[in-house]
Amino acid sequence: MQTRIYLRAFELDDYKTTIAWRNDKEVSDKLGGMRLYVSEAREKKWIEDTIFHSSDIKLAICLIQNNLHIGNVYLTDINNVNRTAESHILIGNKDYWGQGYACEALLQMLHYGFEERGLNRIYAHINIDNEASLRMHEKCGYKQEGVLRQAVFKNGTFKDVVVMSILSKEFLK
Ligand SMILES: CC(C)(COP(=O)(O)OP(=O)(O)OC[C@H]1O[C@@H](n2cnc3c(N)ncnc32)[C@H](O)[C@@H]1OP(=O)(O)O)[C@@H](O)C(=O)NCCC(=O)NCCS
Repeated sequence: MQTRIYLRAFELDDYKTTIAWRNDKEVSDKLGGMRLYVSEAREKKWIEDTIFHSSDIKLAICLIQNNLHIGNVYLTDINNVNRTAESHILIGNKDYWGQGYACEALLQMLHYGFEERGLNRIYAHINIDNEASLRMHEKCGYKQEGVLRQAVFKNGTFKDVVVMSILSKEFLK
């Protein structure tokens, strides 16, 4: 399939796009973190901190066709001894859900993580009721490792969290 997206570093103005995703309950309900009410000023600071002070790899997912920023993909908790990192992804612009963009972006990030950063294991934590994410990670080659019981508190209930991972040798095969 022809490549439709590219990854790029954040720019200072990206907060103007990401603030809407941050405050979208449908998006935040699917993520592991706490739902927060985020001001524009706080989102701006988050983008600035990411650009200037973070050792995580946090990138914007953009359409080649028109440069539209539709989501973000990250590698965090990078451990240079064990060569591991945690991956995170969101397609914040919901008009682009279900069209294969997340898979395409994650595969580009995995390529960067394994081939350019020398990582060996990349893992993800996925809420057990997030069917789209579970399927998408499986499609990208992640395998289920286990389940963290009641690891996330969301909407008044404790949810199990599935741990999935992919190894360098599996990706390169
Ligand atoms: C999860 C998310 C990243 C998926 O992005 P996407 O671009 O829609 O995913 P893709 O189109 O690449 O889908 C990949 C696979 O998942 C399947 N899928 C997508 N949405 C689905 C849904 N709601 N239920 C079941 N499967 C679904 C697709 O059909 C596809 O599988 P297929 O090719 O076998 O049909 C996106 O929905 C999102 O950003 N959600 C909010 C944030 C989030 O959940 N992030 C992940 C946290 S772990």
